[in-house]
Amino acid sequence: MHEPIRPVVAALTLGCKLNQAETQSAARQLQQQGCITTDRPAPADAYLINTCTITHVADRKARRLIRLAQRLSPGAPVIVTGCYAERDGDALAELGNVQIVGNPRKGEAASAVLTALQRAPRAEPRARPPQTGRTRAFLKIQEGCDDVCAFCIVPYVRGRERAVSIEDVVSLARERTADGVQEIVLTGTQPGAYGRDRADGASAAVLISALLSETDAPRIRYSSIQPQDVTPELLACWDDARMCRHFHLALQSGSDAVLGRMRRRYRSERFVQAAAEIRAAVPGASITTDIIAGFPGETDADHAATLEIMTAVRFTDVHVFPYSQRPHTSASLLEDDVPPDVKRERAAELRELGREHRADALAAEVGGLHSVLFESSDRGLTDTYLPVRTEHSPNLTNQLRSVSIDSVADGALLGHVLGRVLA
Ligand code: F3S
Repeated sequence: MHEPIRPVVAALTLGCKLNQAETQSAARQLQQQGCITTDRPAPADAYLINTCTITHVADRKARRLIRLAQRLSPGAPVIVTGCYAERDGDALAELGNVQIVGNPRKGEAASAVLTALQRAPRAEPRARPPQTGRTRAFLKIQEGCDDVCAFCIVPYVRGRERAVSIEDVVSLARERTADGVQEIVLTGTQPGAYGRDRADGASAAVLISALLSETDAPRIRYSSIQPQDVTPELLACWDDARMCRHFHLALQSGSDAVLGRMRRRYRSERFVQAAAEIRAAVPGASITTDIIAGFPGETDADHAATLEIMTAVRFTDVHVFPYSQRPHTSASLLEDDVPPDVKRERAAELRELGREHRADALAAEVGGLHSVLFESSDRGLTDTYLPVRTEHSPNLTNQLRSVSIDSVADGALLGHVLGRVLA
């Protein structure tokens, strides 16, 4: 008796954690149908590419990845889904030999791969690809966004807010924890607004409380929120040590005038207050952010206000995006009047200050103790989302261990393992 030949599918993700959740979900469906999946670009019998279109750089990465798949395995079907496929599937179809599955039909991406595989079965087994890590499970709790910020294309490609029910999230979290994953990462387009579209009283605090009481997930990560989502009820969830102490609070700008034009729902004062509330309720919390440099109409004074807030809050990490117009956004109707060299200078200044603050944050950890989830034999992440490396340890992949931090090198904490973290 010969084993049936199991097809290899490379399920590749660009973009946000929500996309990662959706790719993981598709990969599980494919595994249940007998496929071997990998999350690395490797020779494969079929490709599932989940794209992002948040910036023109994201678009470029998607086109490159599609071409790479075509080079790695000429003739293998390439199924392209995600936000770029939704925004401009026709442009991607021009790359040839790709099948487009838009976001509204994204749940069908796995069956599109299976159908394509049936049309071109393999006679010989393929070398086993690098295996997908099993440390963290990305779960979608909602998608879509009702806020419609001026610069953001996501509402166009994801539509209005739709929450996944608490029962469904809890049941999937239980399943993935039983599979052995150590961390549940809650994802969405606007996860902080979870439940806003429902009439049954569902909220992020209610969802997290249910996950804490009804699952054994060793860690739960819920990080992307906005200042208006920071409430005492939500922060009370962090009384449970299983909650990761990392908050991604997107600032975008420190100028109230720019925030107004961006149609953000908070102003700088509330932002600083929300960061202080987080730090008061969750000792040791790390706060990271996104900032857009050179939004239309941004003056030197607006830019200085952003630097001021960075200094007041001291983020652990800052992602800086020089503004670029996206089609289908209301900001694309504003004149893109900040010259490219000014955008570049401002972005460089923001990044430099961000680097200083990150170096200080890493240095402050030396001598401390962290619970680390190892993603490979000697590398892992703290619950505060800081990278850690250890030496002379046994293979600790997918284990949670206490690590004493000895020093900082190359942007990571170096430490030694003390023992298993007790829940
Ligand atoms: Fe990108 Fe779509 Fe996420 S545009 S950031 S993949 S919601």
